[in-house]
Amino acid sequence: MNNELINETIEYVKDFFKNEFSGHDFWHTLRVYNMAKTIAEKEECDKEIVCLAALLHDVDDVKLVGEQEIPYNNAITYLRSKDYDEERIQKIVHIISQVSYRGGSIKPDTIEGEITQDADRLDAIGAIGIARTFAFGGNKNREMYNPDTPYVEGAEMQGDKYVGGPTINHFYEKLLKLKDLLNTNSAKEIAEHRHKYMEEFLDEFYAEWDGEK
Ligand code: ADP
Ligand code: NI
Repeated sequence: MNNELINETIEYVKDFFKNEFSGHDFWHTLRVYNMAKTIAEKEECDKEIVCLAALLHDVDDVKLVGEQEIPYNNAITYLRSKDYDEERIQKIVHIISQVSYRGGSIKPDTIEGEITQDADRLDAIGAIGIARTFAFGGNKNREMYNPDTPYVEGAEMQGDKYVGGPTINHFYEKLLKLKDLLNTNSAKEIAEHRHKYMEEFLDEFYAEWDGEK
């Protein structure tokens, strides 16, 4: 594993995300990288590919950079500037394309892609997942919760417009479903606890809301 390149890449993403404070910021990237590394230790895989894919997985996100003439231009340009092996660059870009697949869910066709996707998804659940979700909802001026606007399965989008209601509905729409979408057994194990923690959080939330506790 080329540790110098990994450290340089951490610096690159730190600089890349320096003005970004959304759910996709430097800290999200660093958490995904750390989690990907943890999972990679337990799986038979190319760890360097996993680490680089995790670190670069959001640098070409359409939400941040818009449509690009050359897809994945930031990741490719960065890795080429480091004289990184072209075949390995293509592997990394392939992983990023699968992890950030726009149609929603896609199962990566390499173990390195599976690990990177799992690490990204794990960051959306548990305590961090809860915090990110309320930060996101607040940023969109949404109510935390409204007992009169319960979640309705599949009714969150009207064309491009989100009509899913208060932030808490996002738990049912996505967060509570994520544990069953993970690829690796290592990630599934980690998700078990995080999932329970979210369920407990929701129980507490409703109990406090109703003045029961
Ligand atoms: P991805 O990381 O797959 O690009 P998103 O951009 O959809 O995922 O979401 C990133 C984070 O933003 C999610 O983990 C979640 O916390 C938050 N988020 C996304 N959509 C919503 C929503 N409708 N309500 C509340 N939070 C959301
Ligand atoms: Ni991400």
